[in-house]
Amino acid sequence: MITVTNLRKTYRQGERTVTALDDVTLSVPKGSIHGIVGHSGAGKSTLVRCLTLLDRPTSGAVVIDGRELTAVRDSEVRTARRRIGMVFQHANLMDSRTAAQNVAHPLELVKTPKTDVNRKVAELLSLVGLTEFADAYPSQLSGGQKQRVGIARALASDPDVLLCDEPTSALDPATTEDILTLIRSLTHTLNLTVLVITHEMHVVKRICDSVSLLERGRIIEHGPLREVVSQRGGSLGRSLMPLPAGTVGEGLPELELLLVGDTASAPVLSELTRRFDANVNVIAGTVETLGGSRFGRLRVEVDSPRPLSEITAYLEGAGVHVEVAA
Ligand SMILES: Nc1ncnc2c1ncn2[C@@H]1O[C@H](COP(=O)(O)OP(=O)(O)O)[C@@H](O)[C@H]1O
Ligand SMILES: [Mg+2]
Repeated sequence: MITVTNLRKTYRQGERTVTALDDVTLSVPKGSIHGIVGHSGAGKSTLVRCLTLLDRPTSGAVVIDGRELTAVRDSEVRTARRRIGMVFQHANLMDSRTAAQNVAHPLELVKTPKTDVNRKVAELLSLVGLTEFADAYPSQLSGGQKQRVGIARALASDPDVLLCDEPTSALDPATTEDILTLIRSLTHTLNLTVLVITHEMHVVKRICDSVSLLERGRIIEHGPLREVVSQRGGSLGRSLMPLPAGTVGEGLPELELLLVGDTASAPVLSELTRRFDANVNVIAGTVETLGGSRFGRLRVEVDSPRPLSEITAYLEGAGVHVEVAA
């Protein structure tokens, strides 16, 4: 479990003080994956550096499985850091070492006996599906295979936490799927706590249990996937489930509907047609299962002799979130 409490980090930029992290609080239960999304400059890298103790926060606390990282003395930072495995956008493997030797590297650094290293490396390569590539050099591996080696290396010190910084941003879509599936299954098998920093909403949808939106150093939206998608007016929900662009209606009143869970499959629209003598024309829509719940987002044009306010009141009563489109 990771708990971050009131984390602040300020930097001096000449005369100015830049607040890179402003009162960040979040908690990620063991065995789950939390996504951090945000634009460039939002503070994502600073958060990673504070979590890995590459940088000391100005104030606040980071606790990993009951141990306060922020209270660790400088002389113990290296040991404390072994509790956290890091996966980056590029695996940054050593070209002159084989896959097995790359995975062995962190173990050799702490003088692990040779037989233990060999056993552990074989175990890790098998875990990431690379047993047959143990003796291959990075130049002989695909991007996805290199990333697998990187993941195996991150797991060498039996970390409690896996921090993934844009883990699939350099990969093609099919390889991205493979790596995300691997991260998901490792989280379960090893009961890891995982933080994924990403700008790809797809990554959040595929593997995250919960998500935070970082903006100018502050977390402005957060929660389990299901909650953020059903949040009214939330920008995360909109980015996670956008409507296809470019559809234009015929100038009739337009409503945007978010149907959640059971209402997503209930016959609200046909009921609407009947009750309000309305013609309902769907001009854009998307239906997805996110965080285990079904969601539908629809943009509809409504032509009815009855006032729009009655229609929205009816829909809201039926559990549909309604916004009158501009
Ligand atoms: N070492 C540093 N010195 C001064 N300012 C920094 C430093 N690192 C980051 N910042 C500032 O902190 C803010 C957040 O940066 P960063 O964490 O790199 O954002 P992100 O990774 O989300 O793009 C930015 O305004 C950036 O200019
Ligand atoms: Mg960054």
